[in-house]
Amino acid sequence: MNWDFLMEQAIEAKEYAYAPYSGFRVGAAVLTTDGRIFTGCNVENASYGAAICAERTAIVKAVSGGDKKINAIAITSDSNDPIFPCGICRQVIAEFANEETIIICGNKNGEYKEYKLEDILPNAFTKNEPVFKERGII
Ligand code: THU
Repeated sequence: MNWDFLMEQAIEAKEYAYAPYSGFRVGAAVLTTDGRIFTGCNVENASYGAAICAERTAIVKAVSGGDKKINAIAITSDSNDPIFPCGICRQVIAEFANEETIIICGNKNGEYKEYKLEDILPNAFTKNEPVFKERGII
């Protein structure tokens, strides 16, 4: 499928990156199952560990905007190589993903490859874990 429209949003969002410490700008765009798009960039901090990745910025915007179901997420940086979500972001994507969710990993020119979440986070620990059902949490 052609994900250019979502990748373009991610590239635009990258312009807002706040990355004075790493100098590595990242942009992301989430398409929800309701058809809404939420964008995000990385937001760093003088206390380095407080940095927030672009993917999580976009996902938190979607959830706080009332949309918890991710259809697809596009990610880009200033690199010639496609960028993949970090481990923490993969886990956060998993929380709001379904079996069809597509991860679109792009480079600075908007060229990308598509992955299913299962490809990049196999055997994920998710809300479908039996223990949550047994306890009546989910
Ligand atoms: N970063 C992201 O925003 N997403 C990723 O998937 C990888 C890393 C950010 C975090 C930090 O601001 C900078 O890139 C360098 O790690």
